[in-house]
Amino acid sequence: MKSLVKKINSELEKVFQANGYDKSFAYISVSGRPELADYQINSCFNIAKDLKKNPMEVADNVSTLIKDLEVDGVKVFSNCESCKPGFVNLKINDELLFISLNDVLHDDNIGVYGSEILPNDAPKCILLDYGGANVAKPLHVGHLRVAVIGESLKRLYNRLGIKTISDVHLGDFGLQMGLVIEELKDEGKLDDFTTADLEVIYPKASLRAKGDASKNIEPDLEFNKRAHEATKKLQNNIEPETSIWKKILKISIADLKVRYKELNVFFDYYYGESTVKDIMGPMVDKMIDDGVAYESDGAYVIDVKKDTDKKEMPPCIIRKSDGAVLYATSDLATIKFREENFDADRYVYVVDKRQSLHLEQCFRASKKSGLLKRDKDFYHVAVGTMNGNDGKPFKSRDGGVVKLETLISEAREKALEQLKNNDRDLSNADENKIAEIVSIAALKYGDLSNSPTRDYVFDMEKFLSFQGNTGPYILYTLVRIKSIFEKLNDSEGSSEPMINCDSIIHNIFLKAIRYSDVLLDAYKNYDISLICKYIYELANDFNSFYHEHNILNETDKRKKSLFIMICNIVDRIIRDSLEILAIEIPDRM
Ligand code: ARG
Repeated sequence: MKSLVKKINSELEKVFQANGYDKSFAYISVSGRPELADYQINSCFNIAKDLKKNPMEVADNVSTLIKDLEVDGVKVFSNCESCKPGFVNLKINDELLFISLNDVLHDDNIGVYGSEILPNDAPKCILLDYGGANVAKPLHVGHLRVAVIGESLKRLYNRLGIKTISDVHLGDFGLQMGLVIEELKDEGKLDDFTTADLEVIYPKASLRAKGDASKNIEPDLEFNKRAHEATKKLQNNIEPETSIWKKILKISIADLKVRYKELNVFFDYYYGESTVKDIMGPMVDKMIDDGVAYESDGAYVIDVKKDTDKKEMPPCIIRKSDGAVLYATSDLATIKFREENFDADRYVYVVDKRQSLHLEQCFRASKKSGLLKRDKDFYHVAVGTMNGNDGKPFKSRDGGVVKLETLISEAREKALEQLKNNDRDLSNADENKIAEIVSIAALKYGDLSNSPTRDYVFDMEKFLSFQGNTGPYILYTLVRIKSIFEKLNDSEGSSEPMINCDSIIHNIFLKAIRYSDVLLDAYKNYDISLICKYIYELANDFNSFYHEHNILNETDKRKKSLFIMICNIVDRIIRDSLEILAIEIPDRM
């Protein structure tokens, strides 16, 4: 199903070609001044340059040529005017908008087909690395962004027909594991521990090993040494450390799955750094043999600098002087593993922007050392930080890291409070369920509506508000439409809708035909917030329309059908978007 804009552009092409204009200039663009025009043609300047003519003269001619353009036998423009210094301003004919939206409504995919909008060289399969939770450590607020953005990108790709492979890439292998194992041993808890125990044990063990000068706590050097040894034993599959570690992993992963499910985040694979533990050694040996890695101060490194680099690009260290492997080694081995086990055309990492240098080093080192079966793209969605009101990374009142669980339960309580204040006749069970859905929606939408690479201020009050670009506002719009549908009688909406568009309806129609363009923009820019911005504007237009027209009491049957059609379009598009955002919709609010 071709989009309306595509159809218009191909008709334009014919006219341009017939009149000696380059067909690559035959396209309409969304107008920057909606009060003057819906779309405009900006390319008269290019044509004028090509043909050495005056742009205004070209614009005059183009507007005369296309004034009566038709698509499928229907007039395209209700207004088509050249304007200085060389634009053509266009208003789309309501009848045409109406017809194409009617088609969209009768299409299961509401007119969005990746095969039609994606560039020809778009990947068929994308591997996403997101989530990045660490075993034996609780999920904290920093893990929220990478999880929800990654999940939405995955769903966007799937919506556009691109296959995906998603991997949480657990941090399950470093010194933290040795620390936890030794602490469990010391506390005699090896046979019986829960995730709650692990969450207490890790910070305790870490403090014990490192000490804290500000609190006059001396590092426990003997313990520290044991933790390092235990970590090394894991690398060599030695018992009992390996079995203890497996048990920790099992308990931790089961808990992580519950937490991620709460956020509507799902992974195909719960692989981790440890998945590649036996690959790392031979991989590094080969890199040394091949001369890609060389010795530098006892360690082994790969040079990844390029002449064009503007920033410093230190070599990638893959083996320390004591023989230990590093974070980069596990990422490189993971690339090798993924190349051997999957067939992705592109790798997308949704990871904190503070890891940009590390990932860039790994991407380059993997290419240089021939880990890739064929050349392919890597892309790092460099995720910004969630800040508190002070503009610094979000912390708890006592300055500690905020657990995601704490944040979610705070949001839930606040949402519940709001619901109770609203004084609706909801049962307790309903209230709890709705509060759960609304609070998660508020947190996720608050995050997703901010461009991924930018830092943003976490503001629970704002995110939970029913006003503005928030999750609850979007959900409320859908609940409003649902209640309209519930109040309609069966036969209503079946008459032929009247094509009678005031400016609000015209705006809704115009936005609605742009849905697939918005998804494409989000795809190209790795930016889910563009979808949020769009549905927010659509919801705003819908709510103006709702206040302007008495949908349920409209007596003109054909007008009522038109109103119902509008409800349907807005409902379908926002629901479709929320599926991409992985946000659930409550029945009532
Ligand atoms: N576990 C890491 C952390 O918490 C994030 C992992 C990101 N992915 C990767 N392939 N390095 O910092």
